[in-house]
Amino acid sequence: MFHHITRKGFFVITLAFLLTTLLSSMFFSKASAASTLGSAAAAKGRTFGAAVSTTHFGESQYLSTLDAQFSGVTPENEMKWDATEPSRGSFTFSAADMIVSHAQSHGMKIRGHTLVWHNQLPGWVSNISSSSDLLNAMRNHIAGVAGHFRGKITYWDVVNEAFNEDGSRRASIFQQKIGNVFIEDAFQAARAADPNAKLCYNDFNTQGINAKSTAVFNMVRDFKSRGIPIDCVGFQTHLTLGQVPSDMQSNLQRFANLGVDVNITELDDNANSSSSALQQEATDYQKVVQACLAVSRCTSITTWGITDKFSWLGANAAALLFDGNYNKKPAYTSVLHALGGA
Ligand code: XIL
Repeated sequence: MFHHITRKGFFVITLAFLLTTLLSSMFFSKASAASTLGSAAAAKGRTFGAAVSTTHFGESQYLSTLDAQFSGVTPENEMKWDATEPSRGSFTFSAADMIVSHAQSHGMKIRGHTLVWHNQLPGWVSNISSSSDLLNAMRNHIAGVAGHFRGKITYWDVVNEAFNEDGSRRASIFQQKIGNVFIEDAFQAARAADPNAKLCYNDFNTQGINAKSTAVFNMVRDFKSRGIPIDCVGFQTHLTLGQVPSDMQSNLQRFANLGVDVNITELDDNANSSSSALQQEATDYQKVVQACLAVSRCTSITTWGITDKFSWLGANAAALLFDGNYNKKPAYTSVLHALGGA
């Protein structure tokens, strides 16, 4: 009974209790430090995704790495115009649907990529000669594709790569035939087709402050002032080794200040497999993650693939976080640590 416990005994019990509490809290806090990209990003309120392709779904390590490490997917090619509307008015979604159902059954966010882009267009689009016909085709494509996935897409890359490096508009068929308004027209069509998806403009070489990113910035500001729907800007961030711009964070922040989310959408780093390059690559990736985490509206980071061997840049570029055997590279570790994981 309690009255038999001496003062000394009470002290020992108290000490033992405190020690147990301290040790178990140390143990559990260590055990709960996130150990995957997706869970570490989640602890920071972010998504960490990868571009995926159904061409590799037969490889078990491809899917097991995706499922273990990533909390988001972007179809690498399966939602593009040539894949979804190969002939006018007839839509094919089987490959894209496969990615969507995999993502949904694993609780992953889905980035739609991409509705209007000058590349990977089917021949029938490139052959349209009248501007009103092209505008109708574009609107119908957006209604068909964004409508099919309505309610399932977190972010849509509505328009991709519409600017040149000097900030002028790229001379795509859309620009040439429809003119400047093709972009806002596409965003309005996307909003109508999937009102709950966040609608993004996406481009490359825009991660730093330069003529191109400033042109995108001015467009977003203009859209916001005129009530054109735009919710986010995607920064592809295909890096050249050692060239993360020092103003990346302030660039992301100036966009966020316009009232849009910012996303790192296609991150990779063209390195080579020498060990010094892999260390530089790890540093580059770390800087990108740090820049994103410093901006509260930077809500997701996506690498453009999972394993080096399937990178669009070729295996020798060693551009991603996992090598050709799915081993974690130095860049994987630097990303995980930058996200606060261990
Ligand atoms: C690339 C894919 O990775 C390749 O498989 C395909 O052959 C060409 O397109 N910017 C983009 C992506 O927005 O859609 C591109 O993806 C890479 C550059």
